[in-house]
Amino acid sequence: MRPLQRFMSEELLLIVDFGSQFTQLIARRLRDAGFYAEIVPHHRLELNHAQHEAVRGVVLSGGPSSAVAESAPQLKFPTEQIPRPLLGICYGSQSLVAALGGTVAPSSQGAAGEYGKATLQVREDYVEGDSPPMAKKTRAKKTQKLNGATRWQALWHCVPRSSTVWMSHGDSIVRLPEGFVALAASERSPLAALGGVGEGGHVRIGLQFHPEVSHTEHGAQILVNFARHYCHMKGDFRADNLKNSLIAKIRSQIGKGKVLCAVSGGVDSTVTARLVHEACGESLHCVFVDHGLLRAGEGAEVRRYFARLGIELAVIDASARFFAALKGAVDPERKRKIIGELFIKSFENHASQLARREKIRFMAQGTLYPDVIESIDENRGGAMTIKSHHNVGGLPKHMGFELVEPLRKLFKDEVRALGQALGVPAPMLKRHPFPGPGLAIRIPGEVTPEKCECLRRVDNIFIDMLRAAKLYDKIWQAFAVLLPVRSVGVMGDGRSYEHACSLRAICSTDGMTAEPYDFDPAFLRRVATRIVNEVDGVNRVLYDVTAKPPATIEWE
Ligand code: XMP
Repeated sequence: MRPLQRFMSEELLLIVDFGSQFTQLIARRLRDAGFYAEIVPHHRLELNHAQHEAVRGVVLSGGPSSAVAESAPQLKFPTEQIPRPLLGICYGSQSLVAALGGTVAPSSQGAAGEYGKATLQVREDYVEGDSPPMAKKTRAKKTQKLNGATRWQALWHCVPRSSTVWMSHGDSIVRLPEGFVALAASERSPLAALGGVGEGGHVRIGLQFHPEVSHTEHGAQILVNFARHYCHMKGDFRADNLKNSLIAKIRSQIGKGKVLCAVSGGVDSTVTARLVHEACGESLHCVFVDHGLLRAGEGAEVRRYFARLGIELAVIDASARFFAALKGAVDPERKRKIIGELFIKSFENHASQLARREKIRFMAQGTLYPDVIESIDENRGGAMTIKSHHNVGGLPKHMGFELVEPLRKLFKDEVRALGQALGVPAPMLKRHPFPGPGLAIRIPGEVTPEKCECLRRVDNIFIDMLRAAKLYDKIWQAFAVLLPVRSVGVMGDGRSYEHACSLRAICSTDGMTAEPYDFDPAFLRRVATRIVNEVDGVNRVLYDVTAKPPATIEWE
């Protein structure tokens, strides 16, 4: 656990992660609305952490476990000891209810689960759910007390009485803890939202649905209502305002030390280099390893941008080594491994040459918040490795440098906003993501310089036409894949037997899920015609219309 003073804001919400796939989304929704939030794994949260003066409220995330299982993930201390407003989401809500004496019925005992969209009806009668019947008078008194100064109405500020929410739960809350009231119901969950008041008058709110996912119509508003009306946060967080404090932090970390920074030309490493350069100018050495698997003109473009930023850049041409190492490799994971390892070796070579001339103490990396969250606990939720990602942020720690990671609390779109504030050229900030292993994972099968050149030309035509049609900025990521398939065609009067290629263009917000972009078919036909006419070796063009999931964005 990082020391408490490392919070990046004077006020924040702590999100306790119980392993939900959507935990990051909770932070994103809140930050997008100006409420700074940080994620902490449930087993790492210490009570003094939750009691830190900067913490204005705590959100308990969803998770894959059953709140009533013996092995249910728990905090290290009773939830009731958290002296802040609490919001439990799905598992978080169930675990709160179970801890406070309510009842959660497990699906294994026949509780009715709920998956997908549901209609949420806000309740305004503030009655206790399935609690034993109460004398009318007592109930009225109690209701008045709980309702107080319209206590629960603030949760639904700007939220209609009836709206669509997204559910994903097997277990169900069937009885409220003492003193809690039902705040909303869905078709299958009479206790879809609930509230009570804990020690010190802090609210405890439980939501059975997921406000953080976009399918919940007014979910972001509900999160904002919690932050603003219950946690009394100002909501003035903006990533671009972090510029000066991040630069000051880097300065105090590195003093007069020398810093090495591996750049890929992508947004993260460029913004990192720019920040470090602002902080320590000439003490920064940037290195760009050209593995020969780049897109058309990419190496030259990166050089040009860095020259524009006034940052010196050493370029290592290691393409021959990469192609030699990739010879014969066809398995996607093996290809990724070869590239990752060779990248590190090339970088290490350069670093040790440099170190002979001057002492380098630090290494700057563009590590982002999602990488940090996912690597804090590799066993988080038992997540399976789909692909072993390689990027410049993954350089090994054994190299003996102290790490400088100014972006480790930020999401990609926040890095873009920061980059803009730092004067990084807009075309660079808006470039589509490009994977560390480059074109190698867009050439299923063996990678050769010839195939790379062929794919580069196909890709270049596609991207060029997207830009000309003003579609590039509407699409999250677009690229071409050279398929290991040949097919028969007819060109002029002759027969051709050439490669097929596939185009991919997706809409996404974070690359975790994606939908194919709906092109005008006439546009795709024009792209196909140009590719087949201009690129030798390709006679067929396909368009990939698969969403993620079930496909991934890249083909390997
Ligand atoms: P997938 O294919 O996993 O891709 O759906 C999701 C996003 O990640 C990019 N990607 C990578 N980025 N190193 C990277 O820096 C990698 O090894 C890597 N593999 C995939 C991919 O381009 C997409 O934006």
